[in-house]
Amino acid sequence: DAATRYEAESARVSQGVVESNHAGYSGSGFVNGDNAAGSYVEWTVQAASAGTATVALRYANGSTGNRPGDVSVNGAVVSAARAFGPTGAWSTWATSTLTVTLRAGANTIRVTAATAAGNPNLDHLDLETASSDTAPPT
Ligand code: GCU
Repeated sequence: DAATRYEAESARVSQGVVESNHAGYSGSGFVNGDNAAGSYVEWTVQAASAGTATVALRYANGSTGNRPGDVSVNGAVVSAARAFGPTGAWSTWATSTLTVTLRAGANTIRVTAATAAGNPNLDHLDLETASSDTAPPT
């Protein structure tokens, strides 16, 4: 199936601001989280049915160190201190992709800064759920 895009600037943000001063983002901007542990961006995404899905997190990290973030789904950490390594510039964007398990309906996906450095700048989340195509009856 085609991925569904959820912009960070439309997500719930704790300790951070929406900005647009570094080019290359989708939508109207990105979230610059505070340089503080615990700051987060939380998306609410929809799944037609329970099962696995691919989550692609687009980010920029113009610093020289990792910006580790805990990725949680519906409140449970599924990827602790995910690296979000340097991308070379704040206007150079990369994608960090992981597989998650969702329930049918609404799910929350949160990236919480694991260190005092804070999160990378976050642009969007692309969600690809398993295909709902079924074979036609024969
Ligand atoms: C710079 C950059 C911001 C970034 C910040 C950071 O200030 O312009 O977009 O969020 O560094 O270190 O997180």
